[in-house]
Amino acid sequence: MRKLVTILLLLMLLITSVALKAQQANQFFPERDLVTTGIYYYPEHWSETQWERDIKKMSEMGFEFVHLAEFAWYKMEPEEGKFEFAWLDKVLNLCAKYHVKVLLCTPSATTPTWMRINYPETFVMDGHYIRAENGTRGLESMVNPKFRGYVKRIVTEMARRYGQNSNVIGWQIDNEPGAVPDYSPSSQEAFRTWLKNKYKTIDALNTAWGAAFWSQWFNNFDQVIIPNTNLVGWWGNNPHALLDFKRYSADAQAAFLDFQADVLRNYVSKTQFITTNYTAVCTGSDPNRTGKLDFAIYTAYPNGGTDNIGDSGFRLGNPDLVLFASEYYKSVGGVSGVMEIQPGPVNWGSYNPLLLPGTVRLWLYHSFAAGGKIACSYRFRQILSGAEQYHSGVIQTDGVTPSQGGKDYMQFMKEITALRKSFISGSKMPAKLAARSTALLWNVENYWSIDRQRQTGQWNTWDYPVKFLKTAKSLGAPVDVIAETADLSKYKVVIVPAYEMVDSALVKKWNDYVAKGGHLIVTCRTATKDRRGHFWEGEAAMPISNLIGAHISQTDMLSSYGKGDILMNSNHYPWHSWADLLTADNTAEVLATYANQFYKGKSAVVKHRIGKGDVTYIGVDTDDAKLEKDLLKQIYKDAGATTEDYPPGVFVYWRDGFYTALNYSSADYTVNLPGNAKILIGEKTLKPAGVLVWTE
Ligand code: GAL
Repeated sequence: MRKLVTILLLLMLLITSVALKAQQANQFFPERDLVTTGIYYYPEHWSETQWERDIKKMSEMGFEFVHLAEFAWYKMEPEEGKFEFAWLDKVLNLCAKYHVKVLLCTPSATTPTWMRINYPETFVMDGHYIRAENGTRGLESMVNPKFRGYVKRIVTEMARRYGQNSNVIGWQIDNEPGAVPDYSPSSQEAFRTWLKNKYKTIDALNTAWGAAFWSQWFNNFDQVIIPNTNLVGWWGNNPHALLDFKRYSADAQAAFLDFQADVLRNYVSKTQFITTNYTAVCTGSDPNRTGKLDFAIYTAYPNGGTDNIGDSGFRLGNPDLVLFASEYYKSVGGVSGVMEIQPGPVNWGSYNPLLLPGTVRLWLYHSFAAGGKIACSYRFRQILSGAEQYHSGVIQTDGVTPSQGGKDYMQFMKEITALRKSFISGSKMPAKLAARSTALLWNVENYWSIDRQRQTGQWNTWDYPVKFLKTAKSLGAPVDVIAETADLSKYKVVIVPAYEMVDSALVKKWNDYVAKGGHLIVTCRTATKDRRGHFWEGEAAMPISNLIGAHISQTDMLSSYGKGDILMNSNHYPWHSWADLLTADNTAEVLATYANQFYKGKSAVVKHRIGKGDVTYIGVDTDDAKLEKDLLKQIYKDAGATTEDYPPGVFVYWRDGFYTALNYSSADYTVNLPGNAKILIGEKTLKPAGVLVWTE
């Protein structure tokens, strides 16, 4: 009982702390401004004689802040212990002169050459124990004490100098923290310490790792090394050890960010925020492991030379990135935004096509529509030399002419300025949307665990949860991506996609949510393991069998040419990747069955009522998500909500009183506006890359 009370208290604390953080985070962004726009600038790449021209240009284009010093360690500390900030002072003064605010970065992602020469041990080692060196970003060993010492010193110098500068709005720590795997001696030692803290005894570790298998047993912690699939091959992987290595790496990354945040906090004004810029698809680090950031921001490069939706999809890019990231990163501090939006063609795609004019504006609006408070782009000027010389900027190689992305940006900023005039404080989410409010549960640990053991090449670990996000959005639902500790009670529908590792407290939380009237959707690959990644000594997904009112007897997967067929309400749906064969309890209703294969007639989807709510278990991953869409539609209906039917690539959001429709598809789309709609931006027929903003 006491344990339960403690768990409940801890949960309440976590929930309140996210809510409080959101409030705190909001203080950095006057709500009337809606979103603040910025641009990355690297003065160290350009002649000092051009700085003033460039900053003036930013100001004229409408940028409200400039992002500085991200990779400039070599310029701030050209020799060990010798600091030079006069150049940065000059840049900051120019920014103030042209009324451009400043977002400063800690430069820990790229170290100066003296660091490599004097302290090679400050770099990570890869899985072949080859030491990295400088020349790119993000290869420093975050757990190396020497590196930490140098980071502390440069960050302190910067914070002391600029922490009270009223033109500085905030700080970005590092760049795209990705929890790079590090097999260096410093990391081996840190990993052992991490394991000792976690397991206390070596036998507990041996049991958790299933170390009796293939003679992996350890006699003491000193014998443990980082599991290394590069040396033992894929077969030699130990999923539990690898999972712990992922956890350790994410913890090390989070601790490194928190460590820098602590250093900054000693000196910086309360008006300056502290954040970092995670990648949109972030499968290495875990933003929810940090505790010291005000909020988390993401970077988004939707067009890396992939096909996407329709004939123009290769120019418009993949909507899923901003779709997911804009919701996910809010789970850290309650607010988010985009720190890097692709300004045009990049240099690293499989091919790098021109974007359809308006595409950068579409992405910026996407981030805005989803509640983004910051809309910033990498980078101002296209660089003339170096690894990213083919990467566009918002200004072309002549240094003065806006690129198409630059023009898109200028239009966006002009329009935001106009929208600010229509802002009305305190608008509440319209009832029809609130009735569909949905949460999608995400814990990157499930991603790590499942992706290691996908079992079929047809399974896409990242796309699978995103499929539910997209489906709910296509029905017009507002969807938050939340951590399992978040409060579920405010959501009409909660989706738990492929949530592999659970414990009894979590299952109970889901059960309580349903009993009180919630509509829970649980899918295949949920609750098949405990938190160590072990199977249950019993049937598959044993902890949720009472919740879903069914038992999973077996699981099937098909060859690419196999034909999986499901029947629901006389409709047929194809599948290939994953199929749980269910036996429903008497208390559950069978909604869909397998229509072929030797187990024809077995259940694929069941619904179970508990208390005032219900649970739908979807045991199959279909090819085109139509089954999932039909199910979700019915669930919203059961919840008393209406739904929309937006085609793939069309998204509609509501924030702060504004509706925004976005078109990533290759066809025109006409929004069905109600009579009282007042169009503020665009036209009701959206062309590809089109945006429509209205109020009702
Ligand atoms: C980002 C990175 C930037 C820049 C960009 C190029 O991932 O944060 O520094 O390299 O890619 O597309």
